[in-house]
Amino acid sequence: MPILNGDSMADSSAKVLDYATALDVLKNEYSERDGIDVKTLTDSRVNGGLTYNDFLILPGYIGFPASEVTLDTPVTKRITLKTPFISSPMDTVTEHSMAIHIALLGGLGVIHHNCSADEQAEMVRKVKRFENGFILDPVVISPKTTVGEAKALKEKWGFGGFPVTENGTLRSKLVGIITTRDIQFHDELDDPVTAVMSKDLVMAFQNTSLRVANDLLSKSKKGKLPIVDNKGNLIALLSRSDLMKNLHYPLASKLPQSKQLISAAAIGTRPEDKDRLQKLVDAGLDIVVLDSSQGNSMYQIEMIKYIKEKHPSLDVIGGNVVTREQAASLIAAGVDGLRIGMGSGSACITQEVMAVGRPQAAAVYNVTQFAKRFGVPCIADGGIQNVGHIVKGLALGATTVMMGGLLAGTTESPGQYFVSREGQLVKAYRGMGSIDAMEDKKAGAGSKNAKASNAGTARYFSEGDRLLVAQGVSGSVLDRGSVTKFVPYLMAGVQHSLQDIGVKSLDELQQGVADGTVRFELRTVSAQAEGNVHGLHTFDKKLYS
Ligand code: IMP
Repeated sequence: MPILNGDSMADSSAKVLDYATALDVLKNEYSERDGIDVKTLTDSRVNGGLTYNDFLILPGYIGFPASEVTLDTPVTKRITLKTPFISSPMDTVTEHSMAIHIALLGGLGVIHHNCSADEQAEMVRKVKRFENGFILDPVVISPKTTVGEAKALKEKWGFGGFPVTENGTLRSKLVGIITTRDIQFHDELDDPVTAVMSKDLVMAFQNTSLRVANDLLSKSKKGKLPIVDNKGNLIALLSRSDLMKNLHYPLASKLPQSKQLISAAAIGTRPEDKDRLQKLVDAGLDIVVLDSSQGNSMYQIEMIKYIKEKHPSLDVIGGNVVTREQAASLIAAGVDGLRIGMGSGSACITQEVMAVGRPQAAAVYNVTQFAKRFGVPCIADGGIQNVGHIVKGLALGATTVMMGGLLAGTTESPGQYFVSREGQLVKAYRGMGSIDAMEDKKAGAGSKNAKASNAGTARYFSEGDRLLVAQGVSGSVLDRGSVTKFVPYLMAGVQHSLQDIGVKSLDELQQGVADGTVRFELRTVSAQAEGNVHGLHTFDKKLYS
């Protein structure tokens, strides 16, 4: 295969080369591969502290389809995921719905702690109990609900089948089911639903497998199949309209031999967090994330030692850290994973206010190179704005990336969409160190008694302060649709990127970076402008279809 055409070149010694000769020239006449190696790239004395935008990875050779790229990666010493995506423990990002859906897609959601311990434990329970297809928190009504109210609920939720239980909640005795047909032509709006509901119910008992329940539902000709415990209390619901949607999730994050999704949750490092942790462990927690903006503290070290002693089967992720020395303390205390990032989050003003932090690419590289000597996997947390940033974090040594802002606009994050002043569909997103989060104002999440235990103040060591100093802002992010589409897009993007680099797995990527075969280039400011859309009068940036 000729790769150089000698005729067109001024150098008279140049000739048509075949591939083998070209390789010889590369080997004999160039002392190094094209581009720079990771050490040269990240030398902060020369290049300053790098962010993801300051460099690019050079392409390699594509010898395989992107679909062959695998993304298996450890998140702790003991637990491996099939995709490297983690959602942040923030009250506008991760509650049970996000945790369930991202785990189904091979990632992990870390449930926030800006809520009571009981609320958080209930969310962990929902993740552990989730079986694809069962609705674990159906809308339930009471026998006193009127037909008019049921019609209004149908309007609000867009579906009309509601189980009726004795006291109108889940885990109470099931007395009937109301369907759209029952209320559609019933004009006596003040009548209680008991006047029209159907009492002739086909039910399934707890522990019925999804396959059997689906069978029962399709044979019953009913729209809904309530699942009850042995006392007749409603515990879940299966819906006919979901029958077709019960997809199989081959990448789902599960422990070997377990049918349950892996659950992770964040806690602080105060003494009362030990009681919170006990509740989370009782609910089935697998991974605990110690949530602190500066993890290298006596509080965290004491907490790590306590957890390792009291709950040895629980994996502990410590952080946040941005230096080797911080990492060393937490590794010595016994962490199974580290979370890297200080001041790089999209809703974060830590670097501005505290003068402390580190550009994220520099933080990721320096910490991961140290941590990997002790076999401790690292999460690159914050500052991920696109697929390229994910790949760069992973190339620099992180085994997973944590995202807040990028996932906050999805259907599965807490809170409702609203229309911005500019007429766009948005959702609230706020830093946990914003005044709103620290005072727990207008939480997107359902935190009812967060005041008693505020995750925001604890994360920033501000509990008890008379004056709260913000380290984050509150705002909004654009609608991104469902994570069931968005995460597969991120995954396909990472696969294509690794294909361009010429590596088939995250392991190979990191190996290539370490041995100098994966190369880099610094980006000047004008290179960054060139690498973004430029010169167009208008454009539409649709990311996937
Ligand atoms: P993002 O993905 O760039 O939006 O960053 C999310 C990360 O920002 C989280 O996982 C936290 O580590 C960090 N973070 C969350 N809230 C705050 C804050 O109020 N100030 C600083 N950092 C924050």
